[in-house]
Amino acid sequence: LESIFWDISMRTVEWDYDLAGVKLIDQRLLPGELKVNFYQDHHQVVGAIRDMVVRGAPAIGVTAAFGLALAAFQSSADTPERLMADLQVSAQEMRESRPTAHNLTWALDRILNGIEASNQTIGKLRIAILELAQALADDDVRLNQQMARLGAVLIADGDTIIHHCNTGALAAVDWGTALGVIRMAFEQGRKVHVLVDETRPRLQGARLTAWELKQVGIPYDIITDNAAGYFLSTGQVQKVFFGADRVAANGDVVNKIGTYMLALAAHDNHVPVYAVVPSSTIDLSLANGRLVPIEQRNPAEVLDLEVAGQPVTPVGSTARNPAFDITPNRLLTAIVTENGIIYPPFEQNLGRIVAGN
Ligand code: MRU
Repeated sequence: LESIFWDISMRTVEWDYDLAGVKLIDQRLLPGELKVNFYQDHHQVVGAIRDMVVRGAPAIGVTAAFGLALAAFQSSADTPERLMADLQVSAQEMRESRPTAHNLTWALDRILNGIEASNQTIGKLRIAILELAQALADDDVRLNQQMARLGAVLIADGDTIIHHCNTGALAAVDWGTALGVIRMAFEQGRKVHVLVDETRPRLQGARLTAWELKQVGIPYDIITDNAAGYFLSTGQVQKVFFGADRVAANGDVVNKIGTYMLALAAHDNHVPVYAVVPSSTIDLSLANGRLVPIEQRNPAEVLDLEVAGQPVTPVGSTARNPAFDITPNRLLTAIVTENGIIYPPFEQNLGRIVAGN
């Protein structure tokens, strides 16, 4: 594993202009293998999002945008109006592939609302869609870095931080959200130590966050998800950081399963809790987090577990596998965005920030 190094300029998702298709780091294989998959069929891009070749809210948003560009190139429509109708069908397929992340629907809407079919040739429309998708990809990196610089002020020299899931470069086009803030503080010279929640059942923390931290050189220990309460209650943690897949208008945060219990334990021990999200994750159309659709994934992700080569669960067991939970706004200290750090009352302050004020 030592030899698998990531080229720091490499993006999690990018368009290949020579081959005309989407390149995705296959996150299912890390940390064992660093492999880049190539897609020229938008149906396959939908599959890659659903099967979590690519995951993390900002990363799947940009992947869907490039998927829509592929759909535009693949469409056999002979008028701009028919092309638009084909794109609506493809966009719906992508929206349903992972229903919780707001970035996905946000990115698709940005493209569909950003193109004007009238007075355009089909060729020009296709190019315009690809250009919009590329702009979303470039903005993702720029805004994440802006957010990291803003959020880094929250981290003090010597902090030990619990982090949930993977919110680093792999969860975005590059750099990431909550892990990006931690990395920025580290690169600014602060000593930090990260306790990495392993994040059952897909182990995004143990596999991906640990891999990223190792490459950047940030010290860390992997902990089981259910050890977080112990570390918080024994005074060993100064901050909790995570990202989000969707933030409702009242500041409720929907994020990877386990976030709620982590925030509860942190709150009970007066440890500050920060969610780091680009404004593309904030959904002002939903009043609170209970209205967010929670993706229910295949129970096999929970059941198909082996220890020492032996299956853990009795044959025929059933499982439930919600991929996300809802952390109520009262448990959050602040929400970090690219436009500023938002403190309660979130109901009032989120809207202003999303509008860029
Ligand atoms: O199921 P995943 O791996 O796509 O879930 C990802 C998360 O929950 C992240 O914490 C979230 O997308 C924020 S990442 C920038």
